[in-house]
Amino acid sequence: MIRSVVRGFGSALPKRVLTNQEMESKVDTTDEWIVQRTGIRQRYIADESETTASLGEAAARAALDNAGLTPDDIDLIILATSTPDNTFPASAVDIQNRLGMKHGAAFDIQAVCTGFVYAMSTADLYIRGGMAKRVLVIGAETFSRILDWNDRTTCVLFGDGAGAVVLEAQEGQGTAGDRGILTSHLRSDGSHKDKLYVNGGPSTTGQAGFIHMEGREVFKYAVGMITDVVYDALAATALEVEDIDWLVPHQANIRIIEGSARKLGIPMEKVVVTVDQHGNTSAASIPLALAAAAGDGRIKEGDIVLLEAMGGGFTWGSVLLRW
Ligand code: UT7
Repeated sequence: MIRSVVRGFGSALPKRVLTNQEMESKVDTTDEWIVQRTGIRQRYIADESETTASLGEAAARAALDNAGLTPDDIDLIILATSTPDNTFPASAVDIQNRLGMKHGAAFDIQAVCTGFVYAMSTADLYIRGGMAKRVLVIGAETFSRILDWNDRTTCVLFGDGAGAVVLEAQEGQGTAGDRGILTSHLRSDGSHKDKLYVNGGPSTTGQAGFIHMEGREVFKYAVGMITDVVYDALAATALEVEDIDWLVPHQANIRIIEGSARKLGIPMEKVVVTVDQHGNTSAASIPLALAAAAGDGRIKEGDIVLLEAMGGGFTWGSVLLRW
């Protein structure tokens, strides 16, 4: 059977680093509070010249280089983002144009922090359905643009960045020994939509709006939702928790990451953590973490890698793959 195998990866961060110490001069907060409650020490913030499309393009180029491919080799671009450059067209077509691609197709997916998991699952279906041979899957965000910089309960949490992978159709045996995506599980429940949302949009206020979050409420659901879809992935592949070489979670809060790992019985040595460096970059956080851990040689060919995320909607999901 056809499998969607990761052939290359890449990432891009804005030039500007914003530390917790600098945050102390912007809002009534402390480095100690932010580190204790979230694990975040710094985040990257886009300047005027940097946008979701420009960061996404840079991550895409890095992934293509890593794969030894050019834009000519790609037939579909899927961009996960909740912070597109424009209401339309999709920032994916902007990235397609920046890459000099006139063939194939490109579209955005919006599932907030679960966006990259949704995008990987969608790309896998295109590949396994025979509609695409190589898909650029990108997560890119500029959450700094929808932050209320006077609201200390949200502005300390988020950052900007982008990550990308190239997925390629390769023949597998149909077993868990195959390389590539082995299973994916997507969930959503819109009854929670008011717990984490942006108070604007084209058909309501006509403005982009700002993030609002009932942090404690989101926290309450996070670990349970994350572990549910991880158990779904293990059940679908008959793999055991012990088979997981690397857990690459969405990076919202170190306490959620540690709580999920503890409940699953996965030691922290097997968990990729970047939240300290990047903050919460929403749909970009998983591909940024993948690029960090594959780039420094932690994730190796043949490793079982588990991606999971939970966020606004609520949306949540998992992707289990062999690197
Ligand atoms: O990525 C999508 C999913 N999003 C998440 O997963 C986020 C989930 N939620 C969280 O990570 C946590 O709930 C937060 C990090 C947002 C907040 O941590 P918490 O431990 O739940 O704190 P809290 O909201 O219960 O606030 C505790 C106190 C409050 O003061 P009082 O009411 O106890 O006097 C807040 O006003 O901390 C105060 N506080 C702050 N203090 C200093 C809130 N923000 C700050 C701040 N600096 N930046």
